[in-house]
Amino acid sequence: MSTDRRKPNWEPKIIVLMCDWCLFSELDRADLARVQAQPNVRIVKIPCLGRMDPMYVLTALQEGIDGVLVAGCHLGDCHYKRGNFMAENRIAVLQTVLETSSLKGRTKFAHISTAERGVFPRLVEEMQQKIGALGPIEEELT
Ligand code: FES
Repeated sequence: MSTDRRKPNWEPKIIVLMCDWCLFSELDRADLARVQAQPNVRIVKIPCLGRMDPMYVLTALQEGIDGVLVAGCHLGDCHYKRGNFMAENRIAVLQTVLETSSLKGRTKFAHISTAERGVFPRLVEEMQQKIGALGPIEEELT
């Protein structure tokens, strides 16, 4: 899939920072495997969204990852009770920082649960399309 006319063979590189608890059933594992099979998508599991450091996102973008999707449990569903509430504050600060840069469209934050079969692959596909329309990040970083 190439969506950038400037680089015909370019495909967006996407990193997914994902809470290990939001997709853990066998059916979810099938969704994960489908996404992981894509060569330009890397899933980095974290124990809880509460452990998500905004620097992970900024570093990924700075290192040339075209887009970062951060996914965790729905508010109230966190295995550790307050992790995603803590993450909400960090994400709000991160979004404020990104709003002031050309990188604001390169991140997405989402809540998903094991009861939402098919949502995760759809989120990744939407992210690929969105980032594909923006083009390679290297053009914004230079
Ligand atoms: S365990 Fe998933 S967000 Fe905390």
